[in-house]
Amino acid sequence: MITKNPFVEIVSTGRFLPEHVVTNRDMESIVETTDEWIFERTGIRERRIAPPEMTAADMGTAAARIALERAGLEPADVDVLIVSTATPDRLLPATACDIQALIGATKAVAFDVIGACTGFLYGLTVAEGYISTGRGEIALVIATEKLSAIVDWEDRATCVLFGDGAGAAVLRSSEGERGILGTHHQSDGTLADLLYRPAGGAAIPMDEEVLRNRTHLLRMSGREIFKHAVRAMADSSGKALERSGWELEDVDLVFPHQANIRIIKATARYAGLPMEKVFVNVDRYGNMSSATIPVAMDEAIEEGRLHPGMNLLLVAFGAGLTWGAMTVRW
Ligand code: UT7
Repeated sequence: MITKNPFVEIVSTGRFLPEHVVTNRDMESIVETTDEWIFERTGIRERRIAPPEMTAADMGTAAARIALERAGLEPADVDVLIVSTATPDRLLPATACDIQALIGATKAVAFDVIGACTGFLYGLTVAEGYISTGRGEIALVIATEKLSAIVDWEDRATCVLFGDGAGAAVLRSSEGERGILGTHHQSDGTLADLLYRPAGGAAIPMDEEVLRNRTHLLRMSGREIFKHAVRAMADSSGKALERSGWELEDVDLVFPHQANIRIIKATARYAGLPMEKVFVNVDRYGNMSSATIPVAMDEAIEEGRLHPGMNLLLVAFGAGLTWGAMTVRW
């Protein structure tokens, strides 16, 4: 049994999803695809798309306000504000600083973590470190993603997969033994080119050629990513369980990154976790990168599926490559 002093717990969550629903049928009029292909290959039926003027900071702010209100806290109570996003509003400064200004988290230190789809778990881990070492009392971790702004709407192999949305969680130290237990995180930068934006950064700045070749937009080797995702998430889950002193049977509910139902099912099978214990909402939102896990947790809480004492497993995989798993006693 793992012991910590103190345990750091998630006290509340919040989510924001743009209103506009884009169904697979709608996608048929954008690229050469079919509802059948998308649903059979991914399990996605629809996704939310933010209007042009709505930014990642706006969505993250909305989710954060809900989480803070549910925790009974004011923005000025936040000591550390961490944002995970693959779609920062601007390259500089951090989107966390924009959200800090929007909500008025006046005393917080605010910074982004760039962990792609795994970013929410990395953010939770950094927040846990801040709190458990006494560097702050209240942490706000936000995952906000406007994937519609970086996907290539002419590439049917990617644009049908992604959606926009945000989730947030408030963390503080637990008086009991609830909270984050074991984590396992890993990355492999040698495989970065399997999922990336080739240009538009400081190495290849934006110019007419970049725009013409659309190399500032998301590129993905889907099949390769699929294979790595299943193996990595199953491996990380096993290591996080081991570090928590849990057996597979101890897990009550799993929150996997929601990219593709086939990846979720294959990972569950590979890891030995029955699908009845796996939370799935990829059908309604598609892949919202790091926002998928906090949005799923927030929905599960609202649906009354989380009860004190339950054992949760969070597991994600994304660009970098990055991956990780975390066990949480609710
Ligand atoms: O968040 C973490 C990062 N992302 C992921 O986890 C995604 C990982 N990868 C996947 O989910 C899957 O690989 C995809 C859903 C992206 C693709 O599924 P697949 O079974 O690996 O299909 P494929 O890429 O091998 O493509 C099969 C066929 C191709 O046609 P040919 O070459 O066999 O004639 C594609 O051109 O499907 C075609 N295709 C499409 N057809 C209709 C690709 N996209 C589409 C589309 N509609 N939207």
